[in-house]
Amino acid sequence: MLIRGRRNRVSEGIRSLVREHHLQVSDLIMPLFICEGINKKSEITSMPGIFRLSSELIVEECRYLYSLGIPGVVLFPAIDDTKKDKTATESWNPDGLYLKTIRAIKAAVPELVIITDVALDPYSSDGHDGFVSDEGEILNDETLPLLAKMSVAQARAGADIVAPSDMMDGRVEVIRQALDENGFTNVGILAYSAKYASAFYGPFRDALDSAPKKGDKKTYQMDPANVREALREVNLDISEGADMVMVKPGLPYLDVLRAVSEISDVPVAVYNVSGEYAMLRAAAQNGWLDYKKVVLESLTAFKRAGADMILTYHARETAEWMKK
Ligand code: PBG
Repeated sequence: MLIRGRRNRVSEGIRSLVREHHLQVSDLIMPLFICEGINKKSEITSMPGIFRLSSELIVEECRYLYSLGIPGVVLFPAIDDTKKDKTATESWNPDGLYLKTIRAIKAAVPELVIITDVALDPYSSDGHDGFVSDEGEILNDETLPLLAKMSVAQARAGADIVAPSDMMDGRVEVIRQALDENGFTNVGILAYSAKYASAFYGPFRDALDSAPKKGDKKTYQMDPANVREALREVNLDISEGADMVMVKPGLPYLDVLRAVSEISDVPVAVYNVSGEYAMLRAAAQNGWLDYKKVVLESLTAFKRAGADMILTYHARETAEWMKK
């Protein structure tokens, strides 16, 4: 035999020399859930190890994540039902939970990249990402000014990057214009471009109590069967001024990630979502999988498929493992 593939796998030294993709702490973004209250910490039942934290605990957590080398966080608020309405008014209340917490993080850890979520659902009495008509339709163009207002309020509070996760058409352009008109030309846009109507978001909706009151999200989020459509969405968002694009969920959509990374001329993010986290945790708790090994293998798969950055609930633990 002239050729033996195994020669390049003979020792860890050789394997490390021929390794094609490398996972680094600097690739990771940690999603965090913020709740009302003082010194409040409550575990999300379907996401063991992940907590809703009140403002001052979030600030401490951000300090710690930054000390581990994690460059950024993405923030989601759990809003009291009494503050929800049809137009998500609470989202631009400067004294509301979300904007207050952003200001506190920025003051305490200014170098940490704060990525904010732009969509109506955490603040919406309908539990949808867009404005819902009396007939139950999710209205696209009526939603755009609300998203623009929310983005500007987040930028004013200290967001470095706003991330529209709503999947309305034309929102990137409207947000870019609003940010620029208000002097936030350096605030970036990470567009959730290829976001699928996925059942893997279940635990996230438990965490925020943000599930749709009626219907589903299929008229705005993408059909899991499509990939060509993802490329169209990515190209549109780039042409509207997106600085980065995203594919979401992650593991069941690695083919989409690969296809997007091949055509995108801006950096590509992937969101390893709540349901993916829950699966590995649950299997590990049953003793069925080696948690650390499956996490590192999964995150490496994202790099191999072309991701530049990974939003993952495993970020904190992974950074701790990699520090040792
Ligand atoms: C909503 C939003 C969702 C997630 C991030 N932003 C849920 C949804 O679209 O219903 C899901 C993230 C996860 O499951 O971890 N704008």
